[in-house]
Amino acid sequence: ATAQIGVTGLAVMGSNLARNFARHGHTVALHNRTYAKTEALVAEHGHEGDFVPAETAEEFVAALQKPHRIVVMVKAGEPTDAVIEEFAALLEPGDVIIDGGNAHFADTRRREKALRERGIHFVGTGISGGEEGALNGPSIMPGGSAESYESLGPLLESIAAEAKDGTPCCTHIGPDGAGHFVKMVHNGIEYADMQLIAEAYDLLRHVAGYEPQRIAETFRTWNTGRLDSYLIEITAEVLAHTDAATGRPFVDVVADGAEQKGTGRWTVQTALDLGIPVSGIAEAVFARSVSGHADLRGAARELPGPGREPLAPAEAGEFASLVEEALYASKVVSYAQGWNMIAAASAEYGWDIDLGAVAAIWRGGCIIRAAFLDRIRAAFAADPQLPTLLADKGFAAEVGKAQDAWRSVVATAVGRGVPTPGFSAALAYYDALRAERLPAALTQGQRDFFGAHTYRRTDREGSFHTLWGGDRSEEQTG
Ligand code: 6PG
Repeated sequence: ATAQIGVTGLAVMGSNLARNFARHGHTVALHNRTYAKTEALVAEHGHEGDFVPAETAEEFVAALQKPHRIVVMVKAGEPTDAVIEEFAALLEPGDVIIDGGNAHFADTRRREKALRERGIHFVGTGISGGEEGALNGPSIMPGGSAESYESLGPLLESIAAEAKDGTPCCTHIGPDGAGHFVKMVHNGIEYADMQLIAEAYDLLRHVAGYEPQRIAETFRTWNTGRLDSYLIEITAEVLAHTDAATGRPFVDVVADGAEQKGTGRWTVQTALDLGIPVSGIAEAVFARSVSGHADLRGAARELPGPGREPLAPAEAGEFASLVEEALYASKVVSYAQGWNMIAAASAEYGWDIDLGAVAAIWRGGCIIRAAFLDRIRAAFAADPQLPTLLADKGFAAEVGKAQDAWRSVVATAVGRGVPTPGFSAALAYYDALRAERLPAALTQGQRDFFGAHTYRRTDREGSFHTLWGGDRSEEQTG
């Protein structure tokens, strides 16, 4: 046996990961349900490194050095369970199965437990960066046992992207489902970032009155500042693209219903279970959902509202710079919410996740890679217990400075009938956190009125109920 690692499931992500391992000097065993795909990969890319094509699962395992390490790159859900079962039967205690798909962390926890009982390490691993990242350097988020990371870590780190300071974008996130959990939140933040960028585009288009080419230039300029990120960069590319068939801006010929494969939805469902407000991510998921509801949109098309008369050109430039501030402040809020969620899950499941390390490995390779993440890393390095990113001095100062612009952009959007659920929800969250008193006191009163659900008081310990149906005297219930 010569192979240090094996990859089974040779669709684009699996093939590219296998090639990435081989290009870094590792001998890679290859396996796929249909052998023709394995052969095609070797025929086309065999010269890039050492591959050992295997026709059967048995041959594949036999080609691997011990402990056997198998990367599974198949569809999340049942296909993953089937492949795991097939290989687990051939493995020995101490062997390692790596699931590199976008699995739900609860499935990963279940699989990890079942395989641990058989002595096999199951490493649910988030891998971000799309096809290109898988080939040239993704951000890698492995979960599973610390023991498995000892031998697996160097292999994964060798193929990961590098942050600007040269450190690999891969770290052991924590036990069992921690890696897939963190990847899920990455995707939730990805949804929020994309929605905020889309809102900024909409405002530049319909309030500033810019054409897509001009907006592309605006994004390119923003990308030289604090918003410097992969998503802003590709936004400029998409906006600058002209459709060959019609000669029109590409963005104008694409159907405006956004699709989703589920990781954003999982993030919000999980946040609800954990009791962590992730309104930025939730609004992003709902915005995709609204866009896809042709039925609702069709039925409501004639509802009255402001027309979309753009600002005078003299005012447009100033407005665009306000949008940059609103975008930045809203982005800080959605990252703050995402990190709260990771911290909550870490406590709930006993994962002991290093919050700064998560930011560090997202600096390169992944879809949300951005200069900004180094600042999040630094914020948690300075205070590992930081309750919210908004409490970090640097972020607090920037968001505080942006708030006038942020309010003005949201007010303008509301006045002109441009939907900005991301910007608005982020601002509402900011104002809710800073409010001295929230109307939740009234909510508590209502709950006590109709359901005797009791309330706490500001001036005394204990729980209380008012006899609403009687003389309205108060009794202490606990
Ligand atoms: C990544 C991406 C990747 C996938 C998204 C797309 O990190 O490389 O997040 O995992 O492209 O999940 O998700 P939707 O299809 O739901 O937009």
